[in-house]
Amino acid sequence: MGVRIFGQLIRHTSLSMASSTTLDAILSLSKRKGFVYQSSEIYGGLNGCWDFGPLGVELLRNIKDSWWKAMTYRTDIVGIDSSILMHPRVWEASGHLQQFSDPMIDNKTSKSRHRADNLIEEYIHRLRAKNKTADAERVESQLAAAQNNDDLHRIIVDNAIPDPVSGTTDWTEVRNFNLMFETHVGPVADAANVVYLRPETAQGIFVNFKNVMDAARMKPPFGIAQIGKSFRNEINTKNFLFRTREFEQMEMQFFVKPGSEGEWFDYWRQARWDWFVNNLGIKADHLHRKPHEKLAHYAAAAEDIEYLFPFGWGEVEGIHSRTDFDLARHQEFSGKKLEYVDTVTKDRYTPYVIETAVGATRTFMALLCDAYAEEEVPTGDGGSETRAVMRFAPSLAPVTAAVLPLVNKDGMPEAAQAIMRNLQRSFRVDYDTSGAIGRRYRRQDEVGTPFCITIDGETLSDSTVTLRDRDTMQQIRVHTDALSGEIRRRLEA
Ligand code: GAP
Repeated sequence: MGVRIFGQLIRHTSLSMASSTTLDAILSLSKRKGFVYQSSEIYGGLNGCWDFGPLGVELLRNIKDSWWKAMTYRTDIVGIDSSILMHPRVWEASGHLQQFSDPMIDNKTSKSRHRADNLIEEYIHRLRAKNKTADAERVESQLAAAQNNDDLHRIIVDNAIPDPVSGTTDWTEVRNFNLMFETHVGPVADAANVVYLRPETAQGIFVNFKNVMDAARMKPPFGIAQIGKSFRNEINTKNFLFRTREFEQMEMQFFVKPGSEGEWFDYWRQARWDWFVNNLGIKADHLHRKPHEKLAHYAAAAEDIEYLFPFGWGEVEGIHSRTDFDLARHQEFSGKKLEYVDTVTKDRYTPYVIETAVGATRTFMALLCDAYAEEEVPTGDGGSETRAVMRFAPSLAPVTAAVLPLVNKDGMPEAAQAIMRNLQRSFRVDYDTSGAIGRRYRRQDEVGTPFCITIDGETLSDSTVTLRDRDTMQQIRVHTDALSGEIRRRLEA
């Protein structure tokens, strides 16, 4: 969840604030092609909330499926799906009620609200952009030395950091702002009925530890995995899907015998890195590991995996060695034993936990950024043109194959539809008849469809089609009987 410094939780960020044409290109493609829309757009949108369109929902599902398979297609991890609303004591035990806050400051003139540390970071970035390196370094060291909200306030006031909205330095004090959304169960909205939208999925796993261990007959080392929505009332939402108020997480808690946590921490930091590179196909030089310098009081070790977004490095996943902090706290607050007892050796202990916590929606954004490319390609007439292409790993692409009859007559549509119906038994398939074939290829490239199948005159005489590869643009002829097998072979390659 982050690192506890000066009595509150400050979440890590190492984002630089540079804007980028790539992000603009991705945002516009996202909307145009149906990956992501602003939530409630026709009413002007709702800040920090996004909707996934027809292609986006497929890509998101494929990311979640890939994670679910990597995590639960093994004998030592099982899954759960816990409810979003939980007993409020859960959040007392976890520490969220007291500590899950960001330092907030208001500008009295514009009434705009900012995360105090972000305001300072953005100021440092502006100093650097103006080549005021010495000033930037001075403010940076002030920020690194800040111990409490008063220190943050002093940095803002002493440096006369202006409000980005009004330009004034008319600031309030810095106060803590709890990020949990509050609501009420039942018809009466009073303090006795308060519940919270969960800010992480992990607590649903901890409170079910005993249920799952007993029912699934698991014994440490074993893990529990969960995918689901989480909610945080972020002060500033920015950078598209990077920091939103409603998002999806994929978390796994791995319960181990105390003493073995170091070895399991190393195992999971490597396994999670490998998932990004091997399963998602993200370029390894766009990822880096960031060990935490300041550890939470309960953490033995922690490391983030960061992705190089168009605006700078940003965390996509945290791997944390959390000792027995969470289970011990839930034992204390619930009065229920959350221990493992070995029936043979009578060994009894509260397991230690290695947590892997990754954002599904943030990973979705990393994947969009990583896959997006613009390149010069030759045209049939000896010239060249620019194509936008999404180089998703074929198994993650929202649409696996597009079936394209060369002309919309002469028996080709009928042959194409028969081929499409056959492929649809195994794959998501698009069917497109409109425009020249080159334009149709470009349309499919833009949304990352790895295979285009063209039905032409030859198809009617010898039952072969052309199979075009998105990345190499090479075309080969394949018999229709072999088409499914060839696509499957390429998906698994
Ligand atoms: N249980 C630990 C935990 O929740 P976290 O670092 O706060 O740790 C894990 O969150 C991941 O969830 C992050 O690495 C990020 O990918 C995602 N995440 C967190 N806050 C988010 C937000 N406001 N918007 C989108 N994704 C977020």
